[in-house]
Amino acid sequence: MASVVRAITDKNRAQYEHEILEHYRLRHEIYVVERNWADLFRPDGLERDQFDGEGADYILAIDDGRVVGGSRLISTLRPHLLSEVFPHMAAARGLPRAANVYEWTRMFVAKERREGRNNGRTAGAVICGVLEHCLSIGATEMTALVEMWWLPRFHEMGFTLKPLGLPELINGEWSIAVSMTVDDQTLESTRAFHDIDGPILGTEEAKPRSKFIAA
Ligand code: COA
Repeated sequence: MASVVRAITDKNRAQYEHEILEHYRLRHEIYVVERNWADLFRPDGLERDQFDGEGADYILAIDDGRVVGGSRLISTLRPHLLSEVFPHMAAARGLPRAANVYEWTRMFVAKERREGRNNGRTAGAVICGVLEHCLSIGATEMTALVEMWWLPRFHEMGFTLKPLGLPELINGEWSIAVSMTVDDQTLESTRAFHDIDGPILGTEEAKPRSKFIAA
């Protein structure tokens, strides 16, 4: 069975209602139940916050309609997590907000698709999808609030990043706001790290150009 990675935006969201809903359900399972981020609990079992929906872009890894991984990108010109909830985390350098800067949040992979220290293929496919989508919409920088354990992993992937403020303990994990450069070189090194040999995002009309998991 082939897996695809899709970029879902306001333009094509209507075609992906089922996948978007499934991804909210999976996010609830992962962030509320597994990671115990209790603030995100919702009685309907769909993890959605005020930044979801219109204006948010989603990168989803999908197996025949089943969402197995994903991530979210939001223009920093819109209200987003760092601007509305954690602005103090960017106190040292200030929060970059511009048309070419997107905030990256909610990076997840379904439990059965995680691969420990083997540079997870599904995780890699989603991250490459995030970078490809950024490049396709003219985003050259991403901001993010990340747990510190990501830093060596970003380093290994060849990311260039700078901290925006001091680390803080959030939900029991040391976390830090960062900005990261998005360019062809970062995409190439991230592909190489995950052993992905070409573009991962399928187009709407054509078949996906690349399978990221063997059938
Ligand atoms: N704390 C510390 N290190 C972590 C971690 C955590 N919560 N989650 C992952 N890691 C590190 C570990 O080094 C891990 O290797 P190990 O299990 O051998 O120690 C490595 O990342 C790989 O993680 P793993 O989950 O096995 O595989 P993956 O690379 O396929 O997926 C994630 C990584 C983050 C996508 C996946 O763990 C996930 O979806 N987690 C839940 C959602 C989440 O916390 N997302 C990040 C915040 S938005």
